[in-house]
Amino acid sequence: MNDFNYLSDHLSCEEVPVETIAREAGTPFYLYSHRTLRRHFRIFDSAFAEVPHIVCFAVKANSNTAILRIFVREGGGVDLVSGGELYRALKAGVDPGKIVYSGVGKREDEIDFALRTGILMFNVESDQELEKINTRAQILGVRAGIGLRVNPDVDPQTHPHISTGLRENKFGINIEASLTAYRRAAGLKHLDIKGVSCHIGSQVTKLSPFIDALARLKELILQLRKEGIAIRYLDLGGGLGITYDRETPPHPSEYARAIIDAAREIDCTFIFEPGRVIVGNAGILVTRVLYTKENEGKRFIIVDAGMNDLVRPSLYGSFHHIQPVIRRKREEIVADVVGPICESGDFLAKGRKLPAFEQGELLAVMSAGAYGFSMSSNYNSRPRAPEILVRDDRWYVIRKRETWEDLDRGEEIPEWMDI
Ligand code: LLP
Repeated sequence: MNDFNYLSDHLSCEEVPVETIAREAGTPFYLYSHRTLRRHFRIFDSAFAEVPHIVCFAVKANSNTAILRIFVREGGGVDLVSGGELYRALKAGVDPGKIVYSGVGKREDEIDFALRTGILMFNVESDQELEKINTRAQILGVRAGIGLRVNPDVDPQTHPHISTGLRENKFGINIEASLTAYRRAAGLKHLDIKGVSCHIGSQVTKLSPFIDALARLKELILQLRKEGIAIRYLDLGGGLGITYDRETPPHPSEYARAIIDAAREIDCTFIFEPGRVIVGNAGILVTRVLYTKENEGKRFIIVDAGMNDLVRPSLYGSFHHIQPVIRRKREEIVADVVGPICESGDFLAKGRKLPAFEQGELLAVMSAGAYGFSMSSNYNSRPRAPEILVRDDRWYVIRKRETWEDLDRGEEIPEWMDI
């Protein structure tokens, strides 16, 4: 459920017509509903009310500080993968005690930043990283909270580019090897072993992969406890899928029920790292039709948003519904919706049955709140789109549209190139 609805055929976000915003802000732009964001967070959080838990929103899905602040106000933490994300999280006011830091390639300066901040734990992805964190903690005179990111070798049955829990992926430490790695970690004086973590993939639409992974982690936790290694946190990562088209993922309450039931004997604080399920359907990308044309019998709708604004269709062949901002009865056509970028891979929809959109018309690319703006770029020297948040009947620019001056910021022409 989300708060993008037609009110007498005008697409609105909460109580604000999308057209009103487009008139003032120009296109393209990202648009988020505060009500949807907060509701999605609350649904996920309350689904686990009966067990101790922390919902650590995956910053990579949507990194805007105002959006992070919404979750902070709801008591949420964050899952990070870089120093830049930590910087953003602190600006948003996240409690360091609710920060987990994942990622296979943490740099020394990033580790130091996280150690100085006093985050809850690093999800460590290799033996060498364990050593590195231990050394840095010693140098800084602190103890580092850690968990190992274990690769449980389960098939999340999702797109191969976003599946992460299989043995052949670069992520985590194989579950067999993890026991040895924990023993080694237990001997490193500047580490405080707190947890076990895993993340099996993204846009997972079945429960069984999560439950399989949990069963493997549970065995590991019980074994570690036998050896005197006290595991207090169980981080199950993110990955719960959403409906883009016809997918029928489990509701967060079903996901929670299944996990709580399967984890009965392990007395741990749960950590979750949801991204998409919170923000995916809470945001859209609004774009305007620049031109329509026909080439060799193929119809194209050329819009002012490109793969630099939303790369998911080009990168993964992802499906996003495309709807008119002002709805009316008209004939349907089959067309490609393409952007202005000079690449044939620059499309938002291919061979899609759509209303015969017209030049100048506003379109809404749905379900764009996750991995939309956060994966956008300046390719073709296109300033990045603004991000706008609606709350009730008001809207707020939470990130300005970039300008041409933003494009060459930091660039310098060496003196000897004088003309
Ligand atoms: N935790 C870790 C360690 C992750 O790597 C990810 C996502 C998440 C949590 C959040 O997963 P979510 O709940 O959003 O599924 N760009 C791709 C998705 C890549 C996901 C990467 N990791 C896309 O646009 O579909």
